[in-house]
Amino acid sequence: MIGRLNHVAIAVPDLAAAVAQYRDTLGASVRPPQDEPDHGVTVVFIDLPNTKVELLHPLGDNSPIRGFLDKNPSGGIHHICYEVDDILAARDRLKAQGARVLGDGEPKIGAHGKPVLFLHPKDFTGTLVELEQA
Ligand code: CO
Repeated sequence: MIGRLNHVAIAVPDLAAAVAQYRDTLGASVRPPQDEPDHGVTVVFIDLPNTKVELLHPLGDNSPIRGFLDKNPSGGIHHICYEVDDILAARDRLKAQGARVLGDGEPKIGAHGKPVLFLHPKDFTGTLVELEQA
């Protein structure tokens, strides 16, 4: 059911420092920062030949990644995102198998303008999984 790895998301405490590291030290192609007020994050996408890295930084007081950074002050891998062809079919199949979909279970529009859902990390070997309709 899952398709390509769309991105790996890394929560970072210092966005400018992380951008400089990926651009200058690792020599990656880094896109401009993008504020996502609906998701409480500022996002920077890094384009790699086979996938993307998504740097996440808290935006606003109720950012969902604030707690993660409190627990991981130097940052860390926050989630991985797999592509699916049909997000509602994927959701229904996962729910039927007992997986927990976060939030109200309805897809939200993600950073790429496409519908996304998140799956509970405790159901997926300790990893927060994002599904994005390709
Ligand atoms: Co993501």
